[in-house]
Amino acid sequence: MKEIIRLFNVLIVIFCMVILLLGVTLLLRYNPSVFESHESLITKAAEVQKPKLWQAPDTATIPKDKEGKRIRYGRELIAHTSDYLGPNGKVMNISNGMNCQNCHLEAGTKPFGNNYGSVASMYPKFRARSGKLESIVKRVNDCIERSLNGTSLDSLSEEMKAIVAYITWLGKDVPKGEKAAGSGLVEMKWLDRPADPVAGKKLYLQKCLICHGYSGEGQRLSANSHFIYPPLWGENSFNTGAGLFRISNLSRYIRANMPNGSTYDSPMLSEDQAWDIAAYVVSLPRPEKKFKQDWPKIETKPVDHPFGPYADGFSEEQHKYGPFREILAKNKSK
Ligand code: HEC
Ligand code: HEC
Repeated sequence: MKEIIRLFNVLIVIFCMVILLLGVTLLLRYNPSVFESHESLITKAAEVQKPKLWQAPDTATIPKDKEGKRIRYGRELIAHTSDYLGPNGKVMNISNGMNCQNCHLEAGTKPFGNNYGSVASMYPKFRARSGKLESIVKRVNDCIERSLNGTSLDSLSEEMKAIVAYITWLGKDVPKGEKAAGSGLVEMKWLDRPADPVAGKKLYLQKCLICHGYSGEGQRLSANSHFIYPPLWGENSFNTGAGLFRISNLSRYIRANMPNGSTYDSPMLSEDQAWDIAAYVVSLPRPEKKFKQDWPKIETKPVDHPFGPYADGFSEEQHKYGPFREILAKNKSK
């Protein structure tokens, strides 16, 4: 009898062990985090909260056909614009020697490096500056006329077709009407004080001069070669109609990208420093170009558009350097 009870006990123990093993296997399979440390769970939660930023498609997937050839030419034109369309360009001489890539970093793919992730999905787009629905062609020519202080490209030229093909290919996986996370420029808070060009100059001399030069003139390897460091002001830089001439755009660009090598998640400057350096850069001379047809409705001018007339009664000076909060508050209350 004792023998039988002992055998029975052994069987029960084996049975319990099998059930336990089965339970653990199932638990691990469907909820592996149970056995992770507290810390690793916290990092996981942070990863989930961080929005996934848009990533450009791999250039190795550009088709090997005629359209692919056009896309690759477009990418080349964005990266080395000056070699093709600059003052000594081999195709045309229609621009100031800057490259699209100087401001649309890594051929328009860098997170918060003013990338093109949302262009294909958002254009044609209504823009208050022109008061019109704009195509990608129109938008590209805007940058050529302003940022490259140049003459627009014919929409039927191979160069325009190639640029549009590349930008369209880049954004092909972003659903129509949606903004890709991390496209354009990083968000920043408005300053409570005016941005300060004097403080900005001090910082410029410490942090920017080495590449962009004392007079913001940039650097070339030799007199007629292209810029290795682009000009920030002066005759070869973007003109007063350009997007970067607005201090909010310039400081947001600088904050996430300059000194060169900075990124949005490891910036080298504080927001305040970026505002002050931007104030210094926009205080200096550059090609002046008026676009009379801009802002058909003056009440739609962005708060930091530095040229009047304005609908709100604030000065050009305040619209250029701030403080912006009181202008924003007044515009909001209207
Ligand atoms: C000096 C800097 C600079 C250069 C050079 C430049 N751009 Fe831009 N570009 C900008 C800025 C800043 C914006 C955003 C302006 C704004 O939203 O007010 C912009 C916007 C654009 C947009 C619209 C992006 C969007 O998401 O709506 C396109 C397309 C574009 N640029 C194409 C080009 C092309 C092509 C070139 C070269 C031929 C070029 N840009 C050269 C500064 C530049
Ligand atoms: C190590 C060299 C280096 C330093 C330092 C540096 N930059 Fe740049 N900067 C570059 C390069 C290179 C580009 C063009 C990027 C490209 O084409 O990929 C650029 C582009 C720019 C542009 C857009 C193009 C233009 O000419 O307007 C601005 C604005 C700019 N830098 C501002 C600054 C400011 C402000 C600082 C100081 C906080 C700074 N940079 C520090 C190398 C540098």
